[in-house]
Amino acid sequence: MAKGEKKFYCSECGARYPKWLGKCEDCGQWNSIVENISAGEKSETGNSRLNFKTLAAPQERLDRKLSDIGEFDRVLGGGIVSGSVVLIGGDPGIGKSTLLLQISAALSQDYKCVYISGEESAEQICMRAARLGAGDSSVKLACETDIDIVLNSLGEDVDFLIIDSIQTLQSFSVDSIPGTVSQVRACAYKLINFAKTTNTTVFLIGHVTKDGAIAGPKILEHMVDTVLYFEGERGNSYRILRSVKNRYGPCDELGIFEMQQHGLVGVSNPSVLFLTQRSESVPGSVVFSGIEGTRPILVEVQALVSKSYFSAPRRTVVGWDMNRLFTILAVIESKCKISFSDRDVYLNIAGGLKISEPACDLAVAMSLLSARSETIILNETCVFGEIGLTGEVRSVSRCSERIKEAEKLGFKRIIAPASNTIVKSGDGVKIETIETIMNVVELLGIAYK
Ligand code: TYD
Ligand code: MG
Repeated sequence: MAKGEKKFYCSECGARYPKWLGKCEDCGQWNSIVENISAGEKSETGNSRLNFKTLAAPQERLDRKLSDIGEFDRVLGGGIVSGSVVLIGGDPGIGKSTLLLQISAALSQDYKCVYISGEESAEQICMRAARLGAGDSSVKLACETDIDIVLNSLGEDVDFLIIDSIQTLQSFSVDSIPGTVSQVRACAYKLINFAKTTNTTVFLIGHVTKDGAIAGPKILEHMVDTVLYFEGERGNSYRILRSVKNRYGPCDELGIFEMQQHGLVGVSNPSVLFLTQRSESVPGSVVFSGIEGTRPILVEVQALVSKSYFSAPRRTVVGWDMNRLFTILAVIESKCKISFSDRDVYLNIAGGLKISEPACDLAVAMSLLSARSETIILNETCVFGEIGLTGEVRSVSRCSERIKEAEKLGFKRIIAPASNTIVKSGDGVKIETIETIMNVVELLGIAYK
């Protein structure tokens, strides 16, 4: 590439352009065109050759460090891998700074931690630390936004570096304001490079856009080793830390916390938490035995079906997929001949959890049928199963774990797909298997008005 010639590319789809554009002509994304800053540099590879390796498992195991905050270690796959770069995104005020300050205070008992904030003053952070009971920890704190000053000030002996947040950092070698795509990318590149060369673990806090994605280039999520999202409903004290990408562990793992007076407290038995506010046996309420990440979690699925006064009846969903609800309603209508066309339907996963497992279909269908017919499904019943378009109830994965969790929490009756091999561990529980959605109608003895 000729010296001085500038190349621009789209950070979303990779399309290349000779000049900057506001909108990518290929993928239609706005503000995604960035300059390739290393364009003019010539590589000095000389006669270097690749050093090929075999696929044999490495002799050394990953070096994982424990933070003592069990839910956090669990989300990362059983500890924090040295030299990894972890990006944590979430809405403003959800508790990202609180979580990372707690983690760094816990880690500082055994390791050297540096906390860099570009968002708050040292006084604000110290006040928060005092509130968290971490005032006497040995975390080194600095408020700085220049990435080069940050990296120059760090010695080789830092174990953990926390950056709050990546959008506030800037590199003066890039000619744009902090938070822009090229700045975020350049700073992340420098930090990742630092992590890999010094074996320091770096935690990056990231802002999210109003669509819920991490602000800045999508490429940021590709560059880091692990991406976590910190989620929660406003007005609800529960917070869920979810891994969406993890090069060193399973993704879709959940960590559950409660925001209390003195910071975040891990919830080690979430099923109990999600079921505590359950009301007495009422129509429309069903308990689903789900698997989130590596552990089973029981949640309550609630449905409300009421007479509609709109020309197009309302369908509202919280915590589940709207299109999936349309599918389940269509299957019930066509296979069970039960119509919802003159009813408004509201569906809610209680407790603020978002469920994406198809195994929840049966619980949703049962809560809809129960609400529609005002038939009670007893409190001690727990269900799981996927529903196909012909109304068949399909098998789900990890069936015995789901049953075990339900038994542990005292459920007496489990409704499961007939196609799953059921292994019962205790005698106190009755397992009923069903083949189609039509069986649910018979099983519940539902009468429609
Ligand atoms: P914060 O960590 O500043 O959020 P973020 O960095 O994601 O923007 O969290 C701020 C919220 O947490 C604020 O609304 C107050 C609440 N909070 C508590 O309830 N208890 C606490 O001990 C702390 C430190 C914060
Ligand atoms: Mg913050």
